[in-house]
Amino acid sequence: MPPPLNPAQAEHHARLQQILARDGVEPWLLAAFERWPRQWFIDHLYLTPPDVTPTAGDWTAVPPDTRDERLLSRIYDDHAVCLQLADGVGVSSSSQPTLMAGMLSQLGVAPGARLLEVGAASGWNAALLADLAGPAGHVLSLEFDAEMAAAAQRHLRDAGAERVEVRCADGVLGAPDAAPFDAIEVTVACPDLPPAWRDQLALGGRLLAPLALPDGSAPLLRLTRAATDAWTGGFQGLTWFVALRGGGLEAWPPPRPLASHPAWPTDTGREHHQDVAVSAERDAYGFFHLTFWLLASLPDLVWLETPAGRRRYGLWRDDPPGLAVLTDDQVHSFGDPEPGRRLTDAVEAWKVAGAPRLENYEVRVLAPDEPRPPLALCRPCCRLGLALRGA
Ligand SMILES: C[S@@+](CC[C@H](N)C(=O)[O-])C[C@H]1O[C@@H](n2cnc3c(N)ncnc32)[C@H](O)[C@@H]1O
Repeated sequence: MPPPLNPAQAEHHARLQQILARDGVEPWLLAAFERWPRQWFIDHLYLTPPDVTPTAGDWTAVPPDTRDERLLSRIYDDHAVCLQLADGVGVSSSSQPTLMAGMLSQLGVAPGARLLEVGAASGWNAALLADLAGPAGHVLSLEFDAEMAAAAQRHLRDAGAERVEVRCADGVLGAPDAAPFDAIEVTVACPDLPPAWRDQLALGGRLLAPLALPDGSAPLLRLTRAATDAWTGGFQGLTWFVALRGGGLEAWPPPRPLASHPAWPTDTGREHHQDVAVSAERDAYGFFHLTFWLLASLPDLVWLETPAGRRRYGLWRDDPPGLAVLTDDQVHSFGDPEPGRRLTDAVEAWKVAGAPRLENYEVRVLAPDEPRPPLALCRPCCRLGLALRGA
């Protein structure tokens, strides 16, 4: 077991417990967080304020007996902590504690459960999963990166976490030799649901995965595999996770440069340009609920980039050339008016449907031969049909 926390560390650990309790984390889960302090799993980090993108120079070692206030505040903050960078982009992190608690609660781990985690990173979540699954349970955590996998194994061993196995492997393939699992928790944003996760989940089991969208957001999807092999569920909120690594799943196409479309106005004027007001309701997620509806209702919605580097959803038509671009309060239409009309109609349909939010959809995995319903998210491995609850 690691040495007991020094007084400065214990104070910060207690502060995080209070943050979790205030966030509504239930006592049974709070007790697991109490037993597994976050710093046992963090031996280095990129030390920046939470909203600042780290650079290589921010790498900082965390000595086990540290009393450094800056380090301890960051470790015990309710924020993700960057653990690994590649080409200036965060590729591994210790997730935000309240988000982890929410996911563990939604996963509903029963004593004795056999669990698969995709994305071990520090190993902290794997330790919490093993705690919840109890002495008869078992956790297998897959980590793509060899250095992170070795670190997770070391942290779990040093912390005394038992019944957790970490393998360095591409989680997209799951672990056929250890299946079936009672629950699979994916802790990395994935653009599709690979067949392995569905094949390796026991009947009645739950899959919890952040589903990556073109704009980088990742609504958290929970699906249950019914005894009839039907897969149903819903979204549990909006998250941002680091992107999946490995070659297994097709990524969303990168943003298309608007300037390369013939209908995009040149600096001689914006004579082709017509604006249509959107005035969708805003909330903490900005336009997310609207753009989610648009993604589900317009299969050809694309992610676009303006010459100034701003990214927007819209419709792109080559022949006759036409463009429609959604900004916060307008559909901007260029060239042929048909894309602008379709985008405006879809915005109107969202309002007529009562401006549904992410949580308002029932989600169902479509059978391969099933036609696409009006609302669906279709990816190469998995097609999700959406329906409004109570509709
Ligand atoms: C957000 S971190 C996971 C957080 C972690 N579960 C915790 O305890 O805080 C995501 C991790 O997923 C890993 N990852 C990315 N692609 C993966 C893949 N295909 N298979 C397994 N792990 C992957 C990354 O290397 C990274 O360490």
